[in-house]
Amino acid sequence: MSRVGVSLDPLTRYHPPMTTLLYGRPPLVFDPPGDAVQTSPLIPGSTAIESLADGSVEAAMIYAPPGVLERRYVVAQALRVLKAGGRLDVLAPKDRGGSRLKKELEAFGLSFTEAAKAHHRRCVAVRLETAHGVEAAIAAGGPHKVEGLGAWSQPGVFAWDRIDPGSALLAAHVPELSGAGADLGCGYGALATVVLRSVGVTALRLVDLDRRAVEAARRNIEDARATFEWADARTLDDGGDLDFVVSNPPFHDGGAEDRRLGQAFIRKAAGLLKKGGVLWLVANRHLPYEAELNAAFKRVRPVADQGGYKLFEAVK
Ligand SMILES: C[S@@+](CC[C@H](N)C(=O)[O-])C[C@H]1O[C@@H](n2cnc3c(N)ncnc32)[C@H](O)[C@@H]1O
Repeated sequence: MSRVGVSLDPLTRYHPPMTTLLYGRPPLVFDPPGDAVQTSPLIPGSTAIESLADGSVEAAMIYAPPGVLERRYVVAQALRVLKAGGRLDVLAPKDRGGSRLKKELEAFGLSFTEAAKAHHRRCVAVRLETAHGVEAAIAAGGPHKVEGLGAWSQPGVFAWDRIDPGSALLAAHVPELSGAGADLGCGYGALATVVLRSVGVTALRLVDLDRRAVEAARRNIEDARATFEWADARTLDDGGDLDFVVSNPPFHDGGAEDRRLGQAFIRKAAGLLKKGGVLWLVANRHLPYEAELNAAFKRVRPVADQGGYKLFEAVK
């Protein structure tokens, strides 16, 4: 298909039109539109880009995610919802997908300007009728049942097409559980599936910051005991009424290691548990969680140390 030349707005003369879509949180130096509809699945309460009608949006700014399939999916979704002539603004850190943007946008048949700024690459294009490959990218990056895994998942979800070794270690050692519990950072539901094999479990809250993970978990777990929450686990109420918590907590925030995340999960688990309640926590061996566990729990027992992961049982 041939490409059609277009005249592009200079970046400096851009004024946000009526319906603007934003995906993620670009650095302020890129002037993200303040009045835009947020569509990142990692921001609870945001609008799902999938729910927007074809050709309904006038401009889109995408802070592109690092995974190739995920990034192509998001750009394709933006192209789907943009009206012809709409402005597509895609940016990413140079070393987290930015240097691949040019090639990827060319593959959609787009003409665009490219600029480098603040360790990012930014491409600005106008949506043409001639964009192609949109449906294929949406199919490749959308939710689907992963062959070999036997579970619904989606590129971008943590360890989306495999069983994480940390969760596998936890699953191998966790005993029969009973009562009400939670899985903090449930992903697509691999660990929760194992927990729900315990007949003594009466209820399980599956909590994740990623809407795609929660939607996949909902599809994977058809069990009346399970409830699903798209939320930042750190903001949950300290109910103090759960019998157990399992967690393979995150330790990355926006690509950089952030051990405070796991430490906050430990404090939150303690807040959710009743006295005598138990936390089963797995973590990469190098992460310093012992002090936090000892401060928040009465008894802490290292259960396993294997394949670069360590597993703890902690009783409140
Ligand atoms: C190490 S993964 C474990 C996922 C899952 N248990 C598994 O084994 O596949 C951590 C999960 O925590 C989620 N997460 C990250 N930050 C979070 C937060 N603030 N609140 C809740 N979940 C969060 C991530 O989306 C990810 O699914």
